[in-house]
Amino acid sequence: MGKLHNLISIHDLDRKTIDLILKTAEEMESVAVDRSNELGNRIMATLFFEPSTRTRLSFESAMIRLGGRVLGFADVISSSAGGKGETLADTIRTVERYADIIVIRHPLDGSARVAAEFSSVPIINAGSGSEEHPTQALLDLYSIKKIKGTIDGLSISLCGDLRYGRTVHSLGMALSYYDVNVKLAAPPTLRMKPAIIEEMKKSGIQVTEVDSVEDAISDVDVVYMTRIQKERFPDVNEYDEVRGKFRITEDDVKLLREDAIVLHPLPRVDELSPEIDNTPHAKYFDQVYSGVVTRMAILKMILG
Ligand code: NCD
Repeated sequence: MGKLHNLISIHDLDRKTIDLILKTAEEMESVAVDRSNELGNRIMATLFFEPSTRTRLSFESAMIRLGGRVLGFADVISSSAGGKGETLADTIRTVERYADIIVIRHPLDGSARVAAEFSSVPIINAGSGSEEHPTQALLDLYSIKKIKGTIDGLSISLCGDLRYGRTVHSLGMALSYYDVNVKLAAPPTLRMKPAIIEEMKKSGIQVTEVDSVEDAISDVDVVYMTRIQKERFPDVNEYDEVRGKFRITEDDVKLLREDAIVLHPLPRVDELSPEIDNTPHAKYFDQVYSGVVTRMAILKMILG
């Protein structure tokens, strides 16, 4: 694979490139603290057509720690796309003239790919509808490797909203490059897309589907919990049927292996009881910091 240009999908990466990103992220741990001027004077635009706390701020923090500058919008209402009906293509054709790289989050599947078609500068997908969120998957892999020392050989459970959750789609695809056992745990109406299950199985990893929280969290090294994506349900009644149904409570902690870790891309609603925060299993706030070094690595590899 040549130099990384766009990062739209996990499919843009191979195992070698992912390993290089994870290795570079590790090198970024000290740079993140000491700061550098490696991307001095480079400009990153963040175009967020959907709410975000961690993804946008960690991208901005990453760019600033590497000496770069940032601009953008965090709220579609204040952009011409929201207020005046500008097309995505025109927004991109404009912003590419202001910035060296564009980070975009948009409610439509395929949006980042469309943006890349109209852009002469690199595009990073920071979440495209319910489809993908590749940089989240990379920081998830980095977190697993940092905490467990390896990804190969682990059993990992992806839990919650596997239908509309874009983080688990990207992570499921990314895990296909590793030698892992994957448990897919979701309420029956929120199961993982068959195409992604196929992809995982084809790659040779063992995939099991379960639908109870108990099965989801016992006998695994990593529990990756996700929020039920209320905003993506076409029918609110369908959401009401599953809301609050898939939660890890304080009582469930005893089912976890002693050294099992719990990750979550955040934000959480009610699917992880706050009591879990005080247990040694809870690693989701450390995972947040992995977002900074992983995104530093990605920016450096694309712009450096
Ligand atoms: C996720 C997202 O936006 O897909 N958040 C994030 O980027 N950390 C998960 C979610 O919103 O539930």
